[in-house]
Amino acid sequence: MSDYRKIAFIGAGNMTQSIVGGMCQSGYPADHIFISNPSPEKLEKMSAKHGVTTSQNNAEVAAQADVIVLAVKPQLMQDVCAALRKEVSDLASKLIVTIAAGIRIEKYYQYLGDDIRMVRVMPNTPSLVGEGMSGLVADSKATDDDKAYIEKAFKGVGATQWVSTEDELDILGAVAGSGPAYFFEFMASLQKAAVELGYDSDKARQMVQQTALGAAKMAMNSDLELSELRSQVTSKGGSTAKGVEVYQQADVDGISAKAVKAAVTRNQEMAKLF
Ligand SMILES: NC(=O)c1ccc[n+]([C@@H]2O[C@H](COP(=O)([O-])OP(=O)(O)OC[C@H]3O[C@@H](n4cnc5c(N)ncnc54)[C@H](OP(=O)(O)O)[C@@H]3O)[C@@H](O)[C@H]2O)c1
Repeated sequence: MSDYRKIAFIGAGNMTQSIVGGMCQSGYPADHIFISNPSPEKLEKMSAKHGVTTSQNNAEVAAQADVIVLAVKPQLMQDVCAALRKEVSDLASKLIVTIAAGIRIEKYYQYLGDDIRMVRVMPNTPSLVGEGMSGLVADSKATDDDKAYIEKAFKGVGATQWVSTEDELDILGAVAGSGPAYFFEFMASLQKAAVELGYDSDKARQMVQQTALGAAKMAMNSDLELSELRSQVTSKGGSTAKGVEVYQQADVDGISAKAVKAAVTRNQEMAKLF
Protein backbone atom coordinates (compact mmCIF):
# COMPACT_ATOMS: atom_id res chain seq x y z
CA MET A 1 0.00 0.00 0.00
CA SER A 2 1.07 3.58 -0.65
CA ASP A 3 3.14 5.50 1.90
CA TYR A 4 0.38 8.07 1.81
CA ARG A 5 -2.88 6.49 2.87
CA LYS A 6 -5.92 8.65 3.45
CA ILE A 7 -5.91 9.30 7.19
CA ALA A 8 -8.75 10.74 9.32
CA PHE A 9 -8.23 12.19 12.80
CA ILE A 10 -11.27 12.15 15.07
CA GLY A 11 -10.69 15.08 17.44
CA ALA A 12 -8.53 18.11 16.59
CA GLY A 13 -6.93 18.61 20.02
CA ASN A 14 -3.32 19.24 21.00
CA MET A 15 -2.11 15.79 20.08
CA THR A 16 -3.75 15.75 16.64
CA GLN A 17 -2.40 19.22 15.90
CA SER A 18 1.13 18.06 16.75
CA ILE A 19 0.96 14.79 14.80
CA VAL A 20 -0.56 16.44 11.73
CA GLY A 21 2.05 19.22 11.96
CA GLY A 22 4.81 16.59 12.00
CA MET A 23 3.30 14.67 9.09
CA CYS A 24 2.88 17.78 6.94
CA GLN A 25 6.42 18.91 7.73
CA SER A 26 7.77 15.58 6.50
CA GLY A 27 5.92 15.95 3.18
CA TYR A 28 2.68 14.02 3.79
CA PRO A 29 0.18 15.29 1.18
CA ALA A 30 -2.43 17.52 2.85
CA ASP A 31 -5.16 16.22 0.54
CA HIS A 32 -4.76 12.80 2.21
CA ILE A 33 -5.44 14.20 5.70
CA PHE A 34 -8.96 14.62 7.10
CA ILE A 35 -9.84 15.98 10.53
CA SER A 36 -13.10 16.22 12.45
CA ASN A 37 -13.99 18.11 15.62
CA PRO A 38 -17.25 19.38 17.10
CA SER A 39 -16.24 23.06 17.34
CA PRO A 40 -15.04 24.80 14.16
CA GLU A 41 -12.20 27.03 15.47
CA LYS A 42 -9.47 24.36 15.60
CA LEU A 43 -10.58 23.01 12.23
CA GLU A 44 -10.36 26.44 10.61
CA LYS A 45 -6.89 26.91 12.07
CA MET A 46 -5.66 23.55 10.79
CA SER A 47 -7.20 23.94 7.39
CA ALA A 48 -5.61 27.40 6.99
CA LYS A 49 -2.22 26.20 8.27
CA HIS A 50 -1.89 22.90 6.42
CA GLY A 51 -4.59 22.80 3.74
CA VAL A 52 -6.12 19.64 5.21
CA THR A 53 -9.79 18.71 4.76
CA THR A 54 -11.95 19.28 7.82
CA SER A 55 -15.49 18.55 8.95
CA GLN A 56 -17.62 18.75 12.08
CA ASN A 57 -18.94 15.30 11.19
CA ASN A 58 -16.79 12.37 12.40
CA ALA A 59 -18.43 9.78 10.13
CA GLU A 60 -17.91 11.95 7.06
CA VAL A 61 -14.11 12.07 7.49
CA ALA A 62 -13.87 8.46 8.71
CA ALA A 63 -15.75 7.15 5.67
CA GLN A 64 -13.23 8.72 3.27
CA ALA A 65 -10.13 7.38 5.00
CA ASP A 66 -8.03 4.17 5.00
CA VAL A 67 -6.79 4.93 8.52
CA ILE A 68 -8.84 6.35 11.40
CA VAL A 69 -6.99 7.90 14.36
CA LEU A 70 -9.19 8.11 17.45
CA ALA A 71 -7.90 11.19 19.30
CA VAL A 72 -10.69 12.15 21.71
CA LYS A 73 -10.53 12.02 25.51
CA PRO A 74 -10.95 8.49 26.89
CA GLN A 75 -14.28 9.27 28.57
CA LEU A 76 -15.80 10.17 25.18
CA MET A 77 -14.41 7.18 23.31
CA GLN A 78 -17.29 4.76 23.75
CA ASP A 79 -19.89 7.20 22.40
CA VAL A 80 -17.65 8.37 19.54
CA CYS A 81 -17.00 4.74 18.52
CA ALA A 82 -20.67 3.77 18.80
CA ALA A 83 -21.60 6.57 16.38
CA LEU A 84 -18.83 5.58 13.94
CA ARG A 85 -19.93 1.94 14.03
CA LYS A 86 -23.48 3.00 13.20
CA GLU A 87 -22.58 5.45 10.44
CA VAL A 88 -19.47 4.01 8.74
CA SER A 89 -20.15 0.75 6.93
CA ASP A 90 -16.68 -0.69 6.23
CA LEU A 91 -14.67 -0.18 9.43
CA ALA A 92 -13.09 -3.62 9.06
CA SER A 93 -11.38 -2.52 5.85
CA LYS A 94 -9.62 0.38 7.62
CA LEU A 95 -6.75 0.51 10.09
CA ILE A 96 -7.97 1.85 13.44
CA VAL A 97 -5.41 3.71 15.55
CA THR A 98 -6.10 5.02 19.04
CA ILE A 99 -4.01 7.41 21.12
CA ALA A 100 -6.35 7.45 24.12
CA ALA A 101 -4.73 6.56 27.42
CA GLY A 102 -6.02 3.57 29.34
CA ILE A 103 -8.50 1.91 26.95
CA ARG A 104 -7.46 -1.62 25.99
CA ILE A 105 -7.73 -3.05 22.47
CA GLU A 106 -10.29 -5.60 23.67
CA LYS A 107 -12.66 -2.70 24.46
CA TYR A 108 -12.39 -1.32 20.93
CA TYR A 109 -13.48 -4.71 19.60
CA GLN A 110 -16.61 -4.28 21.73
CA TYR A 111 -17.08 -0.67 20.60
CA LEU A 112 -16.30 -1.13 16.87
CA GLY A 113 -16.62 -4.86 16.14
CA ASP A 114 -14.05 -7.63 16.61
CA ASP A 115 -13.20 -7.72 12.90
CA ILE A 116 -11.28 -4.41 13.03
CA ARG A 117 -7.48 -4.32 12.92
CA MET A 118 -5.80 -1.90 15.21
CA VAL A 119 -2.73 -0.21 16.65
CA ARG A 120 -2.69 1.45 20.06
CA VAL A 121 -0.25 4.33 20.46
CA MET A 122 0.81 5.96 23.71
CA PRO A 123 2.39 9.33 22.89
CA ASN A 124 3.66 11.71 25.59
CA THR A 125 3.44 15.48 26.01
CA PRO A 126 6.87 16.37 24.53
CA SER A 127 5.30 15.25 21.21
CA LEU A 128 3.83 18.75 21.30
CA VAL A 129 7.37 20.11 20.74
CA GLY A 130 8.51 17.36 18.36
CA GLU A 131 10.44 15.43 21.05
CA GLY A 132 7.88 12.80 21.97
CA MET A 133 8.42 9.20 23.01
CA SER A 134 5.56 7.11 21.63
CA GLY A 135 4.93 3.47 22.45
CA LEU A 136 3.04 1.36 19.92
CA VAL A 137 1.34 -2.02 20.19
CA ALA A 138 -0.52 -3.76 17.36
CA ASP A 139 -3.19 -6.43 17.46
CA SER A 140 -2.60 -9.69 15.59
CA LYS A 141 -4.57 -8.49 12.54
CA ALA A 142 -2.51 -5.36 11.83
CA THR A 143 -0.15 -6.03 8.93
CA ASP A 144 3.57 -5.21 8.66
CA ASP A 145 2.57 -2.46 6.22
CA ASP A 146 0.14 -1.02 8.77
CA LYS A 147 2.85 -1.01 11.42
CA ALA A 148 5.49 0.60 9.19
CA TYR A 149 2.97 3.22 8.08
CA ILE A 150 1.86 4.30 11.55
CA GLU A 151 5.37 4.20 12.98
CA LYS A 152 6.46 6.66 10.30
CA ALA A 153 3.56 8.99 11.13
CA PHE A 154 4.51 9.12 14.83
CA LYS A 155 8.22 9.52 14.05
CA GLY A 156 7.19 13.02 12.88
CA VAL A 157 6.75 14.01 16.56
CA GLY A 158 9.67 12.15 18.13
CA ALA A 159 10.99 8.66 18.80
CA THR A 160 8.90 5.47 18.64
CA GLN A 161 9.13 2.07 20.31
CA TRP A 162 7.12 -1.06 19.57
CA VAL A 163 6.10 -3.17 22.53
CA SER A 164 4.59 -6.64 22.37
CA THR A 165 1.84 -6.37 24.97
CA GLU A 166 -0.49 -3.79 26.46
CA ASP A 167 1.07 -4.53 29.88
CA GLU A 168 4.35 -3.26 28.44
CA LEU A 169 2.53 -0.20 27.13
CA ASP A 170 1.43 0.47 30.74
CA ILE A 171 5.11 0.43 31.76
CA LEU A 172 6.01 2.77 28.90
CA GLY A 173 3.17 5.03 30.05
CA ALA A 174 4.51 5.02 33.61
CA VAL A 175 8.03 5.97 32.47
CA ALA A 176 7.69 8.02 29.25
CA GLY A 177 4.06 9.15 29.65
CA SER A 178 4.46 10.28 33.26
CA GLY A 179 8.21 10.92 32.98
CA PRO A 180 8.05 14.59 31.94
CA ALA A 181 6.32 15.28 35.28
CA TYR A 182 9.05 13.41 37.18
CA PHE A 183 11.74 15.42 35.41
CA PHE A 184 9.89 18.71 36.04
CA GLU A 185 9.60 17.77 39.72
CA PHE A 186 13.32 17.11 39.92
CA MET A 187 14.20 20.24 37.91
CA ALA A 188 11.98 22.40 40.12
CA SER A 189 13.67 21.01 43.24
CA LEU A 190 17.15 21.82 41.84
CA GLN A 191 15.98 25.34 41.00
CA LYS A 192 14.60 25.73 44.52
CA ALA A 193 17.84 24.49 46.07
CA ALA A 194 19.84 27.11 44.15
CA VAL A 195 17.38 29.88 45.08
CA GLU A 196 17.53 28.90 48.76
CA LEU A 197 21.28 29.47 48.60
CA GLY A 198 20.69 33.00 47.24
CA TYR A 199 20.68 32.44 43.44
CA ASP A 200 18.30 34.39 41.17
CA SER A 201 15.20 32.31 40.34
CA ASP A 202 15.12 32.97 36.56
CA LYS A 203 18.81 32.28 36.22
CA ALA A 204 18.43 29.12 38.31
CA ARG A 205 15.67 27.95 36.00
CA GLN A 206 17.79 28.60 32.92
CA MET A 207 20.77 26.71 34.30
CA VAL A 208 18.60 23.74 35.34
CA GLN A 209 16.88 23.53 31.94
CA GLN A 210 20.08 23.82 29.98
CA THR A 211 21.78 21.24 32.20
CA ALA A 212 18.89 18.80 31.73
CA LEU A 213 19.05 19.29 27.96
CA GLY A 214 22.83 18.90 27.93
CA ALA A 215 22.72 15.73 30.04
CA ALA A 216 20.00 14.25 27.80
CA LYS A 217 22.05 15.06 24.68
CA MET A 218 25.18 13.52 26.19
CA ALA A 219 23.22 10.36 27.04
CA MET A 220 21.77 10.18 23.53
CA ASN A 221 25.18 10.61 21.90
CA SER A 222 26.83 7.91 24.00
CA ASP A 223 26.82 4.11 23.98
CA LEU A 224 27.88 3.97 27.62
CA GLU A 225 25.48 2.77 30.31
CA LEU A 226 23.80 5.71 32.04
CA SER A 227 25.44 4.72 35.34
CA GLU A 228 28.84 4.76 33.58
CA LEU A 229 28.15 8.24 32.20
CA ARG A 230 27.34 9.32 35.74
CA SER A 231 30.67 7.92 36.98
CA GLN A 232 32.54 9.68 34.18
CA VAL A 233 31.31 13.11 35.26
CA THR A 234 32.00 12.40 38.95
CA SER A 235 35.63 12.81 40.02
CA LYS A 236 36.57 10.99 43.20
CA GLY A 237 36.54 13.30 46.21
CA GLY A 238 35.09 16.20 44.18
CA SER A 239 31.97 18.26 44.75
CA THR A 240 29.80 16.21 42.34
CA ALA A 241 30.70 13.05 44.26
CA LYS A 242 29.50 14.72 47.46
CA GLY A 243 26.19 15.70 45.84
CA VAL A 244 25.66 12.28 44.24
CA GLU A 245 26.33 10.61 47.59
CA VAL A 246 23.40 12.50 49.09
CA TYR A 247 21.07 11.25 46.34
CA GLN A 248 22.31 7.69 46.73
CA GLN A 249 21.79 7.80 50.49
CA ALA A 250 18.21 8.86 49.82
CA ASP A 251 17.82 5.70 47.66
CA VAL A 252 16.96 7.27 44.29
CA ASP A 253 16.64 3.78 42.74
CA GLY A 254 14.10 2.78 45.36
CA ILE A 255 12.13 6.02 44.90
CA SER A 256 12.04 5.59 41.08
CA ALA A 257 10.98 1.94 41.44
CA LYS A 258 8.12 2.94 43.74
CA ALA A 259 7.04 5.84 41.51
CA VAL A 260 6.98 3.73 38.32
CA LYS A 261 5.13 0.87 40.07
CA ALA A 262 2.54 3.32 41.43
CA ALA A 263 1.95 4.76 37.94
CA VAL A 264 1.71 1.26 36.36
CA THR A 265 -0.86 0.27 38.99
CA ARG A 266 -2.86 3.41 38.26
CA ASN A 267 -2.74 2.69 34.51
CA GLN A 268 -4.11 -0.79 35.21
CA GLU A 269 -6.85 0.60 37.45
CA MET A 270 -7.84 3.15 34.80
CA ALA A 271 -8.04 0.43 32.13
CA LYS A 272 -10.83 -1.13 34.24
CA LEU A 273 -12.84 2.12 34.19
CA PHE A 274 -13.55 1.85 30.47
N1 LIG B 1 -1.67 15.36 25.24
C1 LIG B 1 -0.88 14.34 25.53
O1 LIG B 1 0.29 14.50 25.87
C2 LIG B 1 -1.37 12.91 25.43
C3 LIG B 1 -0.49 11.89 25.73
C4 LIG B 1 -0.93 10.56 25.60
C5 LIG B 1 -2.21 10.31 25.18
N2 LIG B 1 -3.06 11.34 24.92
C6 LIG B 1 -4.43 11.02 24.53
O2 LIG B 1 -4.74 11.68 23.31
C7 LIG B 1 -6.13 11.98 23.27
C8 LIG B 1 -6.29 13.42 22.89
O3 LIG B 1 -5.57 14.21 23.81
P1 LIG B 1 -5.33 15.76 23.58
O4 LIG B 1 -4.31 16.17 24.56
O5 LIG B 1 -5.16 16.04 22.14
O6 LIG B 1 -6.77 16.30 24.08
P2 LIG B 1 -7.55 17.64 23.70
O7 LIG B 1 -6.60 18.72 23.35
O8 LIG B 1 -8.55 17.87 24.77
O9 LIG B 1 -8.31 17.21 22.37
C9 LIG B 1 -9.46 16.44 22.32
C10 LIG B 1 -10.28 16.96 21.13
O10 LIG B 1 -11.40 16.11 20.96
C11 LIG B 1 -12.47 16.95 20.53
N3 LIG B 1 -13.75 16.27 20.72
C12 LIG B 1 -14.60 16.34 21.78
N4 LIG B 1 -15.69 15.59 21.54
C13 LIG B 1 -15.54 15.07 20.30
C14 LIG B 1 -16.34 14.25 19.48
N5 LIG B 1 -17.53 13.78 19.91
N6 LIG B 1 -15.90 13.92 18.25
C15 LIG B 1 -14.70 14.39 17.79
N7 LIG B 1 -13.89 15.16 18.53
C16 LIG B 1 -14.30 15.50 19.77
C17 LIG B 1 -12.32 18.19 21.37
O11 LIG B 1 -13.02 19.23 20.74
P3 LIG B 1 -13.53 20.55 21.52
O12 LIG B 1 -12.36 21.12 22.25
O13 LIG B 1 -14.03 21.40 20.42
O14 LIG B 1 -14.59 20.05 22.46
C18 LIG B 1 -10.81 18.39 21.34
O15 LIG B 1 -10.42 19.20 20.25
C19 LIG B 1 -6.69 11.64 24.66
O16 LIG B 1 -7.39 10.43 24.60
C20 LIG B 1 -5.47 11.50 25.52
O17 LIG B 1 -5.66 10.48 26.51
C21 LIG B 1 -2.67 12.63 25.03
